[in-house]
Amino acid sequence: MSRTVYVNGDFVPEEEARISVFDRGFLFADGVYEVTSVLGGRILDFDGHAARLERSLAELGMGMPVTRDALLEIHRRLIAENGIDDGLVYLQVTRGAADRDFAYPSQDTPQTVVLFTQSKPGLADNPLAREGLKIISIPDERWGRRDIKTVQLLYPSMGKMMAKAAGAHDAWMTEDGHVTEGTSNNAYIVKDGVIVTRDLGPEILHGITRKAVLRFAREAQMKVEERAFTLEEAAAAQEAFVTSASTFVMPVVEIDGHPVGDGRPGPIAIRLREIYLDESRKASL
Ligand code: PDD
Repeated sequence: MSRTVYVNGDFVPEEEARISVFDRGFLFADGVYEVTSVLGGRILDFDGHAARLERSLAELGMGMPVTRDALLEIHRRLIAENGIDDGLVYLQVTRGAADRDFAYPSQDTPQTVVLFTQSKPGLADNPLAREGLKIISIPDERWGRRDIKTVQLLYPSMGKMMAKAAGAHDAWMTEDGHVTEGTSNNAYIVKDGVIVTRDLGPEILHGITRKAVLRFAREAQMKVEERAFTLEEAAAAQEAFVTSASTFVMPVVEIDGHPVGDGRPGPIAIRLREIYLDESRKASL
């Protein structure tokens, strides 16, 4: 069934949606995006995603194309028109269409704004959360400003294929002997009862789920350390897990073919998933 998508002010059937071949998102990956989850028809952590969008745009010298309120209304209308119960809203903003030139076009070039939904029935009841993920490690070969959520996703996409080829679900990327993050999620281990995850900086995306999960962990009196950790530490960890808007909190049970802990989802990851889903549903819009 055809979806209704949003393109530059219009709600149109997906077959009729058009953007220019000169769009800088297409030619230069000159654009940023957000993925926001929807549970029971309501949006999780809209404010967090809107705030990060504004920051990503500002880091690239762009402003918000529409107000936050207008953005929320677009999300809501797409969710309603497409009958989304559980799923995702994808949003992309690019610097717009201009004749191909490495220099940015003039500031009055209209940005391109695209949003669409993806229906994912049972998103919060993913059986993988009970089994846990198998991951491999790969070198982090992305650019240096991973804190900006740009649409340059080729290396993460290659990483996902390397994982698949190795019979795993996903890959953790490493740099200078330390784990940065997963291909599309933030990475955590539990060591001596302490939750360890990379500290914020340009090396990783500042996950919206990460921020919420760390707050819930601290509120539940769990110990958290924000610092870089090595693959060796991960191999010896009691637990490991990842977080993202599309997977929430997802246990990791195997790294490079070796079981993490007893090879089953750990109690801290399971508990954090429950808390995250409960609290985020309560605060959903
Ligand atoms: N990815 N790190 C990377 C590299 C990511 O691409 C993502 C999200 C995250 C987690 O961020 P958040 O908790 O805000 O979703 C961390 C999204 C889900 C995607 O590209 O589909």
